[in-house]
Amino acid sequence: MLDKKVAELLNAQINKEFYSAYLYLDFSNFYYDHGLDGFGNWYKVQTQEERDHALLFIQYLQNNGEKITLEAVDKPGIALVNTKDPLVEGLKHEQYVTSLIHTIYEAAHLAKDFRTMQFLDWFVKEQGEEETNAEGLIKKYELFGDDPKSLYMLDSELGSRVYSAPSLVL
Ligand code: FEO
Repeated sequence: MLDKKVAELLNAQINKEFYSAYLYLDFSNFYYDHGLDGFGNWYKVQTQEERDHALLFIQYLQNNGEKITLEAVDKPGIALVNTKDPLVEGLKHEQYVTSLIHTIYEAAHLAKDFRTMQFLDWFVKEQGEEETNAEGLIKKYELFGDDPKSLYMLDSELGSRVYSAPSLVL
């Protein structure tokens, strides 16, 4: 059994990860609607990664004999107007998720729950990568987004992203 507070936070994180998946699916659909299929693909792969994150939290809780409580997933609530919006909102969202992971880590540390801290290490690293990716996308868009030919090439580059299963195995 895990510390009660830690288990609650881990359970709540399942919902946050599914919300992330839903939010990025909304971003993906927005880009397909705007003819930027490569950006749409990039966020579709991101959606799959977020679903995987949720499943990893479920697996970890189950491995520790905890009961899972699934809550309703909120509707993606971010208004998207121009094609830079998802990139900016995506970075903000990842920074928020990083803060959530850090909060769980803090609770695990307080409870001397070293097993959960070790589990979360992967997510701490993953969040670093996700923030870097989100910042990189904004930089590229700012450099190339105004020139149709460059935007076409950037879209093609993002279209080549393929899904791969998470490196964390529980
Ligand atoms: Fe599950 Fe993008 O963090």
